[in-house]
Formats: sequence, structure tokens, C-alpha cells
Amino acid sequence: MTVNANLCALHGSYLFSETAARVAAFSQENPGKTLLRLGIGDVTLPVADAVVRALCAAAEEMGRPDGVHGYAPTAGYPFAIEAVRNGYYAPMGVDVAAEDIFISDGAKPDTAGAQELLSPGAVVAVCDPVYPVYADSNAMAGRRVVYLPCRAKDGFAPPLPRERVDAVYLCSPNNPTGMALSRDALAAWVDYARREDVLLLFDAAYSAYVAARDTPRSLFQIPGAQEVGVEFGSLSKSAGFTGLRCGWTVVPSANRWGLRRLWARRMATKTNGVAYPVQRAAEAALSPEGLAQSQQSVRYYQENARLLGEALRRSGYVVFGGADAPYLWVRCPEGLDGWGWFDRLLRQAQIVCTPGEGFGRCGAGYVRFCAFGRRDEIREAAERLGMNA
Ligand code: MLT
Repeated sequence: MTVNANLCALHGSYLFSETAARVAAFSQENPGKTLLRLGIGDVTLPVADAVVRALCAAAEEMGRPDGVHGYAPTAGYPFAIEAVRNGYYAPMGVDVAAEDIFISDGAKPDTAGAQELLSPGAVVAVCDPVYPVYADSNAMAGRRVVYLPCRAKDGFAPPLPRERVDAVYLCSPNNPTGMALSRDALAAWVDYARREDVLLLFDAAYSAYVAARDTPRSLFQIPGAQEVGVEFGSLSKSAGFTGLRCGWTVVPSANRWGLRRLWARRMATKTNGVAYPVQRAAEAALSPEGLAQSQQSVRYYQENARLLGEALRRSGYVVFGGADAPYLWVRCPEGLDGWGWFDRLLRQAQIVCTPGEGFGRCGAGYVRFCAFGRRDEIREAAERLGMNA
């Protein structure tokens, strides 16, 4: 047999596996040292009470003869789909049809799987720096990936591709830079996609963190976007579901290439859906009570980001992001690259961050700090960063 050469050609290990291995090695050598983890974007606060109650009730229901739930409908239970429509899209004035929403176990698998909608020879553009999943999943399929350099001088907004591409991944608010695209910038992308016949794959996993009033949380807030866009939503960062796993993908019926039917076909082959208790938990997370409770956690993380950003700026660092996202993108001190600063912060301050190089060439010279820690850890990190400039 021959193995997938595209997979072999990927760089050694997945970014977060590499950072985890370095951190584990450090901890083994230095058993007494307590680490402040500002690396991978994993939540630290408990899920909302409404979510816990829904999970328990659904689990108990499944233990009763009249409460058995076998395979879930492939696209999700109608109650979860309605919760996404009413709890997520309706408040931002976006009307998404129920049949266009597909419940899944999160944005990561769906952004990775969406490339199966494209022909093997399709060319895909991603931002640089980029959440590695978009680029790696397409590289695994043997596709050519075009990188759109995102620069500090443009607020890390990606430029339109200079060559012909078939699809573009966008993520706003952005992972890793923490910057959000303005309404005008998103409208320019939709114009471009409609004019050039390009699919936009929009990752909205961090939408709950948008603070600026006029900044869109959904691609579908832009007129015409339903024709050329697919959107990925997630409860991971908005409702603490990183361990529960639930998100959704919207493939509008208005899609000009008929992708909705193809996504439904793909899902029917590849998944038996998301566990019933988790979908009940998602419904609860998107209920008025669940949203109000989760919003408190989002505010807590937003305040973390503000405190960390303020401390970093006070210490003279150049800081991006953090205002509309739980990530801060920070320029390395003179003479250090991202891995160099990562190592120094780990050794001298026991702070874990993520090196910018791991997100692509244009990430060189930056690191990402994530604000999902506990408040005491964030304050401690801010203090140590001040001392280790
Ligand atoms: C990150 O740290 O970039 C995210 O937590 C990764 C993810 O959401 O898969």
C-alpha cells in the first residue's frame, strides 16, 4: 500500500501538539514550577447552569424506556436547529432557513471537512497567519494553498487574492490575530466572491467576542453573502463547549453552486450526528437564560483580554487584537522570534503562549496570548510579563 504523500509532506506536528510537547518537557524537568497557560484557546470557566441542567435531564431521559434516543437526524434535531435560528441568528437580524443549518460537533471538523465540497484541483486561499486547520486539511487533500499575507499596517486584514482561487477561508474575529473585519471589508469580500465566482468559507467561532457595534458577527449580515458563503458557528468559545463539542454549519439554499444538497449528502455519509444530550445542552445554551449566563463568562474573558492588553502595552509591547476577540497578537521583543520568545517566557516566567510562526510565515516575530485563563492567572501573567520584557 502507499500512504498519502500529502499527509507525509505536512510539517512535523500540529502546532498545538508541538507546543504541548515542549510544555510537557519543561514541566518534567521543573516539577515544582506552576505554569500560566495562555497558549491554546481552551476555556476555564464552568458551563452555564442552564446547560448543566439540560445535559442531566437529557441523560436521565435516555435512561427511561420512553426517552430512548438512537441515531440523531443527520443535520441535527429540529429543536437544536431552531435554537441556532432564534438564539443566534435572529438577534443579529439574520434570517437563516432551518433546512440550511447543520448541527455538528464543532467548527474545527467542519472547516476541515468543507474542503470536500471542492474539486481536487481547486485552489484555496487562506490568511497568513492562519488557524492551521484550514491550510492543513486542504494540503492533506493535495490542493494548492495560496497564502494571503496579513500585515500590521492593514490591521491584519487579508488582501484580496492576486491570482485565481476557488475558495477563501476567512475567520473574523480572527484566530490568531484577534482582529475583526469591518463591515466594509467583509462587503468587499462578498463583492469579490460574487464577481469572481469564489466560495467564502467563514469561520465565526469567535463572534461572541465582537464588542464594536458595527462589526459584523456573521457573514450573512452582508447582503448577497448567502449566494457565495458558507458559515461555521461554534459554542466552544461562546458557551464553554470545548469539551462538550457542538457547533453548526450554514450552507444557504441560495448558494449558487447548490452546495447545500452536497453538504447534506456528505454529512449523511460521514456522521451519525451529535449526541442527544449535547444537542439539548446546545439548545439550553442558546435559550435566553443560557445566553445570559454564558455572556457573563464571555465578559469575564473580555475583561481578561483588556487587562492583559493594558499590561502589555504599559510594558512597551506592540499589541493587536483583544478588543473583539479573546486573543492578543503581540510583537516579540527585539532579537527574538516567536519560538524564541515562547521558550524564554516558558523558562523565565513560566508563561505558555503560542508562537506566531506556528500560524504561518507572516506570523513570524509575533506570539499569541489567549485570555481564557482564570483572573488570578491573568493578573499574575501580566505582572511577570512586565518583569520579563
Ligand atoms: C486555538 O487555540 O487556536 C483554538 O483553541 C483551537 C481550536 O479552536 O481548535
